[in-house]
Amino acid sequence: MSLILAIESSCDEMSIAILKDKRELLCNVVASQIDTHRLFGGVVPEIASRMHVECVSTVLKTALQQANINMADIDAIAVTKGPGLVGSLHVGMQAAKTLALAYHKPLIGVHHIAGHIYANELVEDIKYPCLCLVVSGGHSELVYMKSEFSFEVIGQTLDDAIGEAYDKVGRVLHLPYPGGPVIDKMAAEGKHAYHLPLPLNDDSYNFSFSGLKSAVINLCHNASQRGEDIVPSDLACSFQEVALEVLVSKTIKAAKDYNVNEIIVAGGVSANKGLRQKLSQESPIKVLFPPMSYCTDNAAMIASAGRIMYEHQRFSPLDLSVKPSYDL
Ligand code: KG4
Ligand code: ZN
Repeated sequence: MSLILAIESSCDEMSIAILKDKRELLCNVVASQIDTHRLFGGVVPEIASRMHVECVSTVLKTALQQANINMADIDAIAVTKGPGLVGSLHVGMQAAKTLALAYHKPLIGVHHIAGHIYANELVEDIKYPCLCLVVSGGHSELVYMKSEFSFEVIGQTLDDAIGEAYDKVGRVLHLPYPGGPVIDKMAAEGKHAYHLPLPLNDDSYNFSFSGLKSAVINLCHNASQRGEDIVPSDLACSFQEVALEVLVSKTIKAAKDYNVNEIIVAGGVSANKGLRQKLSQESPIKVLFPPMSYCTDNAAMIASAGRIMYEHQRFSPLDLSVKPSYDL
């Protein structure tokens, strides 16, 4: 039996969730700043941390009201320790430490990616050993998990993360930030009409997306110099199909090589409909995706990972610091 209050503030969302036991989510309040950052075409770190300071108390108040819980009833405070934007992380960390000190609760520092992975356990138990495909704005990794909370990174991007590539392609196509969800939608309406190179199509488990991103940028640039029009939905479809081809084939290869029981997908790009469809169709091994509402950054996922750390009494001291760069 546990009641975990979790805070996630690693980027441009301030989120607070309260999780009872394994998957009874009493609230998951997310204050998004996306409309503000959209004006700048991407997240502005200084603005993100200032806005977190402004809203953290009201997000906490709303969370406690929605859950109908008093702070005294909470068993532990979980908080994202990193990786992420340093100023953003500090706001959530300081709020968590203040609550832990004032209410005499244990503090739990959670890795952001462990949170994304354990978002899956809000729905059903993960069956180990498993292979996790982590795809977000900052990460593209294949992680082998022999057992609970054991993370072995067997492959990763050598340059851009997949979400970052989506967002940069979105910018070239003059789409609103973040480009990922918009390109996903457009791709479904377009056809694979443009030839783009398959990125790092080799035997390794690593990825590379900067060449693919540059190919899209060059294609748009050359077309505009020649006065030709690009069909945005066709380009979105071509980009997505090539990116997914390598993501899906490497994930399935690694899952077979490591003889896992299931594949789990984590991170913001796990919301991608094309990825969900292609991986589910092509994998001979069971694939688990987080529910759509827990794909992008949220505190429910931090509560889910924090709940496991609570069970193993993996508590942190009150001088815990944030880690903007933090290996799994
Ligand atoms: O996990 P997340 O919320 O933040 C990080 O930890 O980075 O992921 C955000 C990323 C953004 O790059 C966004 O464009 C991408 O996830 N994303 C998507 C989709 N929904 C969000 N990319 C492709 N298709 C989507 N449907
Ligand atoms: Zn994330």
